[in-house]
Amino acid sequence: MFPKEPVGKYLIQVCHNISCALLGADSLIGYLEEKLGIKKGETTEDDMFTLISVECLGGCTAAPMMQINDKFYENLTREKVDKILEDLRNKA
Ligand code: FES
Repeated sequence: MFPKEPVGKYLIQVCHNISCALLGADSLIGYLEEKLGIKKGETTEDDMFTLISVECLGGCTAAPMMQINDKFYENLTREKVDKILEDLRNKA
C-alpha cells in the first residue's frame, strides 16, 4: 500500500480481483493504458497519473471500480473514465 517509487499526482489503482475482473477490469485497464499513453506500473510524462492494478478494494458491489488517491470511482464505464480523467486534468 506504500509505493516504493515516486508516483504521479493521481495514483490510479484499478481493482483486478474477481468481481471487477468478471465485469471488465482487464478491458478497463487496457482503456486507461490507451487513454494515458502508459502501461500498468508507469507514470505519465507530466507526472499527473500513475496506473497500477490492485487486489480487492472492498467495492465489489460496484464493480468494476478504481481508487484514485483516496476516492473510490465505481460502476465504471469508458464514458465515466473519460469524464473522471477530464475532471482531474481540469483541476490541475
Ligand atoms: S473485486 Fe474489485 S473491489 Fe472487490
